Amino acid sequence: MEVERDQWGSKIGFILAAAGSAIGLGNIWKFPYLVGENGGAAFIIIYLLSILIIGLPTVIAEVLIGRTAQKNPVGSFRQLSQNSLFWTAVGGIGVFAGFVILSYYNVIAGWCAGYVVESVKGSFAAINDPAMAGEFFSGLSGNPLWTLGFHALFMFMTVGIIYFGVSNGIEKAAKILMPLLLFFMLALVVRGVTLDGAQAGIAYLMKPDFSAINERTILLALGQAFFSLSLGMGALLTYGSYMSKNDNLVNCSLNIVILDTFIALLAGFMFFPALFALGLHPDQGPALIFNILPSMFNAIPAGGFFRIIFFLLLSMAALTSTISLMEVITAFFTEEFNLSRQKATIFLGGVVFLLGVPSALSFGPMRDIHIFGKTFFGVADFFASNILLPLGGIFILVFVGWFWGMKKAIPNLLQGIQGRSNILLNIWKILVKFVAPVLVLIVLLFKIFG
Ligand code: PFF
Repeated sequence: MEVERDQWGSKIGFILAAAGSAIGLGNIWKFPYLVGENGGAAFIIIYLLSILIIGLPTVIAEVLIGRTAQKNPVGSFRQLSQNSLFWTAVGGIGVFAGFVILSYYNVIAGWCAGYVVESVKGSFAAINDPAMAGEFFSGLSGNPLWTLGFHALFMFMTVGIIYFGVSNGIEKAAKILMPLLLFFMLALVVRGVTLDGAQAGIAYLMKPDFSAINERTILLALGQAFFSLSLGMGALLTYGSYMSKNDNLVNCSLNIVILDTFIALLAGFMFFPALFALGLHPDQGPALIFNILPSMFNAIPAGGFFRIIFFLLLSMAALTSTISLMEVITAFFTEEFNLSRQKATIFLGGVVFLLGVPSALSFGPMRDIHIFGKTFFGVADFFASNILLPLGGIFILVFVGWFWGMKKAIPNLLQGIQGRSNILLNIWKILVKFVAPVLVLIVLLFKIFG
């Protein structure tokens, strides 16, 4: 039985959904603390270069594979490689990475939703310094009932959207959530930059200090570009597979990359002016969002309201990313095993929930169980984002650049494009064949041995 394939209702629907996949905790949580720890504006410049040299060309390559084959990652690689076992397995690595990333990403997404609830309940009203906020966070994240409850809730919301399909579920959700996300972020940026003393934070984001840049920073920026753009595991491939061949793929990819980068920068402008205004250092690290921030809101006018807005926007950003991860595995199961979408999503939601349980408990009952010196959560994150994603990225680039080859890739890329630019096409070719795979390989080796 051939499963009838859904398609995006419009080009903008695809752009918003794919940008929703890209925009997530990586942009709003991780990007700002990487900026804060690695030289402010100087890191931003390196990040922008990484996006241009590796990010954009790889986004185009990945979407192109999906749009050409119109299948899930495994089916796409199998079809375009004419049944090569090796390349089919490469698609399989992507689906596997989807399982792993979704299992622990959903736990953090659950915390975000949990913090919306705690903010509405007024739990932070008397928490006035970062130390107290940190203790409060340890209490919640270490409480199995709380953390598993919100893990389940978030999985339920993710399944609830995927259940309705591509145009009726994912696309509709993205069209509501993405504009709302932007609106909430702008409200918080305005709140932050109008605080007394916010100038110093703005200056920090605008004046590069290149002495803070070394090889490590460059590799961090490259890795972050990859994770932030959802590259290397078939999420953009799967979304691309629902794209019409009449749409301009390069133009769509450019829009996705611009939106993702813009939101990361906007997140910087949301945090740093407020941090400086409240007399805090920019280098707070990963603890910033859950351990420090909740107490900061008490020190700003209308803070209680803005705290709710902040955790809501974080939850929305995470939700558009969890649905893209879920869609990768759903597309695989429905197409490869002829399951109905409805059955597949409910089953997969349960499986991923269970897979996420040890990650959720890594902050409580399982916090002392270490594998390679890391908790279960730490291992899952390290393995997926530092190894599977760069590896998948290299394979995608080598596949398009060398195996499937430019001779076949380019006519497919040009479908839907009026007027071609040979210069841009040649630049893309060189980046995909040589520059990007070598740079991603260096990132991968550094992550493993560095
Ligand atoms: N790009 C998302 C973020 O920045 O949070 C994370 C992500 C989503 C990675 C989907 C990979 C993926 F397939």
